Amino acid sequence: MTGFSAPIGVFDSGYGGLTILNKIRERLPQYDYLYLGDNARAPYGTRSFDVIYRFTLQAVRYLFSQSCPLVILACNTASAKALRTIQQKDLPGIDASRRVLGIIRPTAEAVTAISRTGHIGVLGTPGTIQSRSYDIEISKQNPDFVTVGHGCPMWVPLVENNEGDKPGADYFVRQEIERLMARDKEIDTAILACTHYPLLLPKIRHFLPGHVSIICQGDIVAESLADYLQRHPEMEARLSTSAETQFLTTENAVKFSEMASFFLGEPIHADTVTLS
Ligand code: DGL
Repeated sequence: MTGFSAPIGVFDSGYGGLTILNKIRERLPQYDYLYLGDNARAPYGTRSFDVIYRFTLQAVRYLFSQSCPLVILACNTASAKALRTIQQKDLPGIDASRRVLGIIRPTAEAVTAISRTGHIGVLGTPGTIQSRSYDIEISKQNPDFVTVGHGCPMWVPLVENNEGDKPGADYFVRQEIERLMARDKEIDTAILACTHYPLLLPKIRHFLPGHVSIICQGDIVAESLADYLQRHPEMEARLSTSAETQFLTTENAVKFSEMASFFLGEPIHADTVTLS
């Protein structure tokens, strides 16, 4: 495809990263994007460190093979469990001029400017919460902040199965929010620390107390990427700019196309690939 020579790779375990892609494309529409959802192996959130690292590295290698100079892990679970090892151990041996960026640090930076009580609720997959990545990154920004992490194992399956806006989802959303708020009444800010969760936003907003601000990561990640590209003109110059996006999934392309069209509000066509 003309001009689609050096896209930004955007990776998630499934559909969730589309919420990040959407905001990145709004902020930086000129670039090309190659989205890869590992739907065949989602959800990642309950898998072990070794498995998430292996799957994520396969995805990064695949996106590099498709000429992406830069890959965004638009998945908190992959960012929490695989990013550091890929950056430090794998990247120098694969191609030191390429970059893999995660989404946890920019979110931690943004949230510390928003909370007044300094008590932050973090809603994420069990994998992200167990990694304590948000605790670590938030306390680097401000050691006085209190981070309360809460894993929501049912939320990603609800989204992946297109049940997120159905009445049955109320039970699971309400239950986890009540458990989070029962642990610390001073929480005034809640991070949706899983890229799938913005798709549950109406229900999360409904059940969270009105004074609690909700942080979705899309705008934060988009702004952080814009800033990164401004600070790294050598990377910016490598990216192709035909304003095109291609979609890949490791599962059924027809189903992915239907779901992604629904999430993005525009018709899209996906192709199936195999990762190994
Ligand atoms: N959407 C991903 C995240 O942000 C992972 C969800 C999953 O596969 O469990 O954590």
